[in-house]
Amino acid sequence: MRLEGMRAIVTGAASGIGAATAGLFASEGAQVLAIDLPGTGLAGAHAGQPNIVPFQANIAGETAGKEIVAAALERFGGLDILVNNAGTGSNALAEVLPIEEWDRVFAVNIRGMFLLCQAAIPALRESRRGRIVNVASVMAERTDYGLAAYAASKAGVAGLTRTLALELGKFGITANYILPGAIYTGMTRQNFDQDHIRQVWERKSPLKRLGQGIDIARGILFLASEDGSFVTGHGLVIDGGLTLRT
Ligand SMILES: NC(=O)c1ccc[n+]([C@@H]2O[C@H](COP(=O)([O-])OP(=O)(O)OC[C@H]3O[C@@H](n4cnc5c(N)ncnc54)[C@H](O)[C@@H]3O)[C@@H](O)[C@H]2O)c1
Repeated sequence: MRLEGMRAIVTGAASGIGAATAGLFASEGAQVLAIDLPGTGLAGAHAGQPNIVPFQANIAGETAGKEIVAAALERFGGLDILVNNAGTGSNALAEVLPIEEWDRVFAVNIRGMFLLCQAAIPALRESRRGRIVNVASVMAERTDYGLAAYAASKAGVAGLTRTLALELGKFGITANYILPGAIYTGMTRQNFDQDHIRQVWERKSPLKRLGQGIDIARGILFLASEDGSFVTGHGLVIDGGLTLRT
């Protein structure tokens, strides 16, 4: 029970990495406010788990950060852990990438994340052992064709998180980010369900498999628990060795 008595927010919790994280946190003793968009099956994803409270919100909304934190305080009376996992993909060559698409990606992957961090800071200060874990991507440090908006937004997650670590350390708050590799989730299912695509990515990894949500959730748990209490400003790569070779 590594999170006994802890109160957490996990965004993007209806699917993939976020769903696995909310489930793992609850099984380790945390109370979890699970955030996702309406119509994503959020409540069904965590049915029968009394320590997981579903809360529908679009984190890109102007007031969503404040509403989410207010809901956590109302339900749990405080907040110890914020996991900013919700994210959105994009695939268009830079030359033809519509600015509306750029803005859509940044509104979720960076702006929404920032607003939620900002709204949570007073409660995390109150906790005296606050934890922020932001989900970036190996694409924060690399890229691929069509990933201008996605890679730029994920590089932004790294810069944001390092700055939070610097500014919030004096309040006992750590801030770290995760760089997942190729993980089988809602975001990637359409690609990885195609044998020829899945096999290419499995072969790229020394461990010869795709990651699963739980592989990332375990890293998030480490950073959110007492085990990670002296780790801050760090980017934890969890990619099964995918990026070892250039
Ligand atoms: N799957 C991978 O290979 C991979 C690799 C690197 C990084 N990531 C990152 O991991 C995170 C989780 O993605 P996943 O792979 O589990 O995908 P997923 O699609 O299974 O889950 C993402 C969840 O975020 C939710 N979400 C999206 N926009 C939202 C918004 N505006 N407000 C609230 N919720 C919103 C979605 O509804 C979805 O349930 C993302 O930030 C993604 O960029 C994934």
